[in-house]
Amino acid sequence: MQAVQPYLDSFLQYMQQNPFDAAPSELYEPVDYILNLGGKRMRPVMLLMAYHLFKDNYEKALPAAYTVEIFHNFSLVHDDIMDAAPLRRGKATVHHKWDVNTGILSGDAMLVWAYEYLLKLDDMSKLPAVIRTFNKAAIEVCEGQQYDINFETRNDVSIEEYLKMIELKTSVLLAGGMRMGAIIADASEEEVEHIYQFGRNVGIAFQLQDDYLDSFGAPEKFGKKVGGDIVQNKKTYLILKALEIADEATKARLLDYMTTPTVEEQPKIKAVKGILQDLHIPELTFELKNQYQATAFKHLDSIDVPEARKQSLINIANALLIREI
Ligand code: IPE
Ligand code: IPE
Ligand code: MG
Ligand code: MG
Ligand code: MG
Repeated sequence: MQAVQPYLDSFLQYMQQNPFDAAPSELYEPVDYILNLGGKRMRPVMLLMAYHLFKDNYEKALPAAYTVEIFHNFSLVHDDIMDAAPLRRGKATVHHKWDVNTGILSGDAMLVWAYEYLLKLDDMSKLPAVIRTFNKAAIEVCEGQQYDINFETRNDVSIEEYLKMIELKTSVLLAGGMRMGAIIADASEEEVEHIYQFGRNVGIAFQLQDDYLDSFGAPEKFGKKVGGDIVQNKKTYLILKALEIADEATKARLLDYMTTPTVEEQPKIKAVKGILQDLHIPELTFELKNQYQATAFKHLDSIDVPEARKQSLINIANALLIREI
């Protein structure tokens, strides 16, 4: 089996060689904290794998891999402020450990450093295309985040709108990172597009799994506050599908939970989960996730490189989509 570990090791070593330990410590300690809090590192690893589909020396893509991981962690620091989240990767979020201002400014610095690492790429001729790809993903993440927030106070969100929102907030960074890897490896435009679509579909499937885990994950494994989306009235696929298929009385009960600000957290989480389970929403979520996964693999199939080169991507995608953390 083609392993994920060599890519991960190579990336972690690069991170260690490029630490955030400068002054002022009030700015950089939170950066170092969030970046070393763990995390699956799937975006940098899959960027390296995308490069490696086409070329051998994937170390060449390490600066771009770091760019994407720094940006991802920046987006989490700000996301946790926006979502009022206390826990990240089983530890205190930056704004809980320090304060909101620290989260804002350390996050801002991370965004700038993300760009700085692109300048460390060997082949500068690729830089315009790489920056264009990164910019597109980065601005789309902001657009997705805004839709996610807008939807909290709307009760007429369609599943189509939700899918567009998760494509923007989550999947484009994975897809864009993989496109960056393929561009740096000199892949053809057609190959670059297939790798982007692979990442885009895996990313959507990944967010469906994340939304499932947010309600049904095991607290000690998931590392985030289970039930956070229910408390925040997030319009996830779970909720939207339930609203679509529930009878009128159940639908009214669900809407009531999501529009009554005084409801206590734990009873609300328990009741909403009960409704979702009765309607077999977890099973329906897995079905949709599997469809995106199958589409992703079709795009990988269309790339004309030896099958053995694709195995690590197949393995990591399979592992991510049944993950519990
Ligand atoms: C968390 O991403 C944010 C989402 C888009 C769901 P990950 O689940 O990749 O977070 P880490 O980096 O592995 O902790
Ligand atoms: C986060 O989405 C997406 C970004 C950080 C851009 P979520 O808000 O669902 O991610 P988690 O659940 O906090 O990791
Ligand atoms: Mg969020
Ligand atoms: Mg969040
Ligand atoms: Mg979430």
